[in-house]
Amino acid sequence: MARDTAAFAGRSAEMVGRQVAGYRIQDEIGRGGMAVVYRARDLRLDRVVALKLLAPELARNDTFRKRFTHESRVAAALDHPHIVPVFEAGETDGVLYIAMRYVEGRDLRHLLDREGPLPAGTAVRIGTQVASALDAAHDHGLVHRDVKPGNILIARGTDSEHPEHAYLTDFGLTKKSLSLTGFTTVGQFVGTLDYVAPEQISGRPVDGRCDVYGLACVVYETLAGRPPFLRDDDMALLWAHQHDTPPALTESRPDLAPRVDGVFARALAKSPDARHDSCMAFVTALRAALGGRPAQAGPAAGGHPATWADESAVPEAGERPQAPPRWAEPVFRTGPWPDRRDTP
Ligand SMILES: Nc1ncnc2c1ncn2[C@@H]1O[C@H](COP(=O)(O)OP(=O)(O)OP(=O)(O)O)[C@@H](O)[C@H]1O
Ligand SMILES: [Mg+2]
Repeated sequence: MARDTAAFAGRSAEMVGRQVAGYRIQDEIGRGGMAVVYRARDLRLDRVVALKLLAPELARNDTFRKRFTHESRVAAALDHPHIVPVFEAGETDGVLYIAMRYVEGRDLRHLLDREGPLPAGTAVRIGTQVASALDAAHDHGLVHRDVKPGNILIARGTDSEHPEHAYLTDFGLTKKSLSLTGFTTVGQFVGTLDYVAPEQISGRPVDGRCDVYGLACVVYETLAGRPPFLRDDDMALLWAHQHDTPPALTESRPDLAPRVDGVFARALAKSPDARHDSCMAFVTALRAALGGRPAQAGPAAGGHPATWADESAVPEAGERPQAPPRWAEPVFRTGPWPDRRDTP
């Protein structure tokens, strides 16, 4: 036990070539607050997988373990085009692991850091894909609780009408379940507070509408280049989610139709009852609000030359397919992602 626990904490170079459960570790993909994700070879089926090794302290937390076991089973049973398929989840020598499909691409966090605000069409397409994944999970009684750009993986899509394919990942892995507030025993919050719903903060029961809030925060940031609330410290941020009104999106994106502000006001309502009752209802309302925008000349926010109206990104039913949008190229540069293994 001590050996593998030490190995988890060790440098990725020490893990390369090692076997964990039935997987041979090839290289590190990245690491978050409580896990390291490796590219690995499934030795039984001889295929590449993403192998996530969770920090050993999570295995020692009974509440987390129970939920991990339950929710990874439910997540593994979810068969949805926008949910990363989980192949296996279990425990080996005191380390919880998840083997899942290896997604070639980057997460939305990296994409936003690199590109800044995305064109409305891209934001809506990604939001719609994630919304359909979340609603499918909700239909199975599973609430994600940790919708954030780092948990949305963006792979290359199939064609110009589907330039990107979004996958939602990390069901049941929210660190916010570790304690009421999500703070660890040493008082540090693990993860980000930018997308957390007011009812999660106050410890009230959550349902799918907390994911509506999280998704709305993500889509807001995708369009604005910043999340709805920016505060100097975590406590102020927690307070803002519970009590403050987020700035209207059109303050950052004056190129968008003012009706979008009403859509975000509803999706980001403090009370779950006041929000859209599903994630698709939110993105459908957003799409409708954006779709009414008349054509406009001039550059959009975020350095993207396309305006909403000429993006052809949110086609109305029955519209003919159009040329690939101009922004698709910077989003999907050819060749390997330059900072793929920048993480230490
Ligand atoms: N199935 C996968 N295929 C390819 N890359 C993945 C896969 N799952 C996760 N990753 C990548 O691994 C990295 C680490 O993921 P991880 O979930 O540990 O951290 P995170 O979600 O960014 O942060 P946090 O610790 O706050 O959850 C991320 O860069 C993510 O894009
Ligand atoms: Mg993650």
